[in-house]
Amino acid sequence: MPATSASAPAKIILFGEHAVVYGRPAIAVPISSVMAKVFIRPVLNAPSGYIHILSPGIELDTDLSALSDDHPLALVIHHVFSSLGVTRPPAMKIRITSTIPIASGLGSGAAVSVALARALSAFLGHPLTKEQVSAIAFEADKIYHHTPSGIDNTVITYQQPVYFIKNQPVQTFKAYEPFTIVIADTGIPCPTMETVRDVRHGWQANPGRYDKLFDSIGCIVEKAHKLIQTGHNEDLGPLMDENHQLLCALGVSSQELDRLIEIARAAGALGAKLSGGGRGGNMIALTGRLNAPTIAKALQEAGAVHTITTTIR
Ligand code: PMV
Repeated sequence: MPATSASAPAKIILFGEHAVVYGRPAIAVPISSVMAKVFIRPVLNAPSGYIHILSPGIELDTDLSALSDDHPLALVIHHVFSSLGVTRPPAMKIRITSTIPIASGLGSGAAVSVALARALSAFLGHPLTKEQVSAIAFEADKIYHHTPSGIDNTVITYQQPVYFIKNQPVQTFKAYEPFTIVIADTGIPCPTMETVRDVRHGWQANPGRYDKLFDSIGCIVEKAHKLIQTGHNEDLGPLMDENHQLLCALGVSSQELDRLIEIARAAGALGAKLSGGGRGGNMIALTGRLNAPTIAKALQEAGAVHTITTTIR
């Protein structure tokens, strides 16, 4: 069995986070400048079933047998084995590396799951389909996020922009004309699980108000989907601003996110919003044709710990 490797990109949500959990559409895109990579090699002198996992980024250096079954990596490995009917896996060493910042809304967990499912199934001689890989990564995301909508595993598996509605067939699409965004990390970690829980509590206490906010977000997503596919990219800016206002109304922004969003706008962004779970993590800003470096610099000077400039196609 030859050594095998696979990789998977990060992702960012452009429009529709939170409302997507309640059946409204959302748009997410892959970010290929940061990746998770998995390399698997056979161990010839060890018994079958011996599986060693090395993941320096999370200081993990262990045998699979020492991980509990609900560890996300163990869960992915066991799902791949059961999908392929493998009961006596060959001895192997799995090395996982990633340049995707952890817990900041870039889908690092889902990217590792996707790369691992791909590399392991290829190593075993039976590469899984995209549907299977995405379904396995979704199961692992439940450990990180409890009630994920499924948008992360979908966009990362398909590696194309997606117009995503929970429990509906995957719809990938292409931008009519490329456009550039700057992603800036507040450096404040906030588990998505927390903001998703708080929004749920708000919705349970006041369903009428929250459903209206979700509907308004859904309308923005539909408009943005049309604009991206017809090349009216500049008009996405005001939609980002509107989407951010609605996320503020849901209570998932923070002073730091709002401050970076203001700085991006003052530096010439056409629009900006938080992205992902909120309270911490990332914001995104739509740039004009030439001003991405100016906006990225302004965000760094304002204290963003990390910026990524990416062009969406
Ligand atoms: O924090 P992220 O980028 O993984 O995104 C969470 C997006 C939510 O809509 C808040 C939750 C979900 O599962 O879709």
